[in-house]
Amino acid sequence: MAKVKTTFYCQNCGTQYSKWQGQCTACKEWNTIAEEVLQTPEKSGWKTPDSTSVKRVAKPLLINEIDASQDARIDVVDKEFNRVLGGGLVPGSLTLLGGEPGIGKSTLLLQMALRLPYKTLYVSGEESQKQIKMRAERINPVASNCYILTETKTQNIFKQIEDLQPDVVVVDSIQTLHSDYIESSAGSISQIKECTTELIKFAKETATPVILVGHITKDGHIAGPKILEHMVDTVLQFEGDRNHVFRILRANKNRFGSTNELGIYEMQGAGLREVSNPSEILISRKDDELSGNAVAATLEGMRPLMIEVQALVSTAVYGTPQRSATGFNAKRLNMLLAVLEKRAGFRLGAKDVFLNITGGITVDDPAIDLGVVAAILSSNEDEALPKDYCFAAEVGLSGEIRPVQRVEQRILEAEKLGFSTIFVSKYNKISLKKTTIKIQMISKIEDLVGFIV
Ligand code: TYD
Ligand code: MG
Repeated sequence: MAKVKTTFYCQNCGTQYSKWQGQCTACKEWNTIAEEVLQTPEKSGWKTPDSTSVKRVAKPLLINEIDASQDARIDVVDKEFNRVLGGGLVPGSLTLLGGEPGIGKSTLLLQMALRLPYKTLYVSGEESQKQIKMRAERINPVASNCYILTETKTQNIFKQIEDLQPDVVVVDSIQTLHSDYIESSAGSISQIKECTTELIKFAKETATPVILVGHITKDGHIAGPKILEHMVDTVLQFEGDRNHVFRILRANKNRFGSTNELGIYEMQGAGLREVSNPSEILISRKDDELSGNAVAATLEGMRPLMIEVQALVSTAVYGTPQRSATGFNAKRLNMLLAVLEKRAGFRLGAKDVFLNITGGITVDDPAIDLGVVAAILSSNEDEALPKDYCFAAEVGLSGEIRPVQRVEQRILEAEKLGFSTIFVSKYNKISLKKTTIKIQMISKIEDLVGFIV
């Protein structure tokens, strides 16, 4: 019997070693190097059906002569997903979707598979056909062109693919796949590499788009070698707070589109609903005006988003006042409080200050500073802000109101949602003509105090 060949891989970064060692020299992680059985694959799992044909030799082509028009994108019947992909699935592309467990990766892809008007094969190594059927019934009980296969061996999957000839393939998840050509267990570095290589070969040769689900590690990276992200064409991340209803789909890498776009979904009893106007959900618009609430215009990717900021300022019960922020940087909150104290004369030093961005989202856009300050002032004075006011500006250390990027987009969003006044920096250049919303330009934090207190 031939000697079993083994090698050592860092389970964190995928670096290969000839012998075991305690620390990976490449990524400096400890105890991540593990032995894996290796067998050089003689042939890949995906065999070109027409194997007698002579292998084509690539020739250089003038860029003007290359015909890119055949790359008609596949519409995934989901506006948000389409936008993040850059206008639909590209034939022959490999897309990797990562995200925490339970966030809704399987739901998103099954929903897409059920809606697609093309023959779709949904391969699952995680759930049984029955479980998937139950999920599908919650989402979309109408019969469709979606086939379900529960299989983890790539060779068997390719055999089924050859018989079925699907137009789109979904694999849930890459960590459950294993190839016969490698002996190590599913989910190991060498298996992930091999299975992805086989899938890439299949996708490119048949121009079939393949979407893979990838698990993530506890620090938020896609499990497996970093090289996985280099191999695929698009890396998408599905994220959101599991206790809240919103889910955000964003592209971390996209060979066929921008990585600035994002898609927003709401998890409901019957699957994920596309949220085409997120501002409407994030702003509660109660009838009675409450103190400590302010609306700020932020940008998520390329899209403007109106969010509600809530502040509670109260006399500190204990000696040291508490400062706590949810969805906003606590250091930045302390800075804004110091600016208010020094530049506008508010004695907040002995007060507890709590800040919350509603909807469970986290914002790191400095343009919400002014909204945060307004909410704090409103709570401190116990005076409600007019509920059709909103804010979009950064606050500097000397109390100056600083301009923000793409202010016009923010103003238009506020106008669309029926706000009467938006506070922006005097130094923002605005060339909008004829707006129904009043653009209130201010230059110092004292100006704001004059308006709202
Ligand atoms: P799932 O797609 O299994 O997550 P992942 O594949 O990323 O691990 O999502 C599971 C969660 O979604 C689960 O907590 C239940 C919830 N869910 C709904 O709220 N509504 C639905 O219609 C479905 C199918 C799932
Ligand atoms: Mg899943």
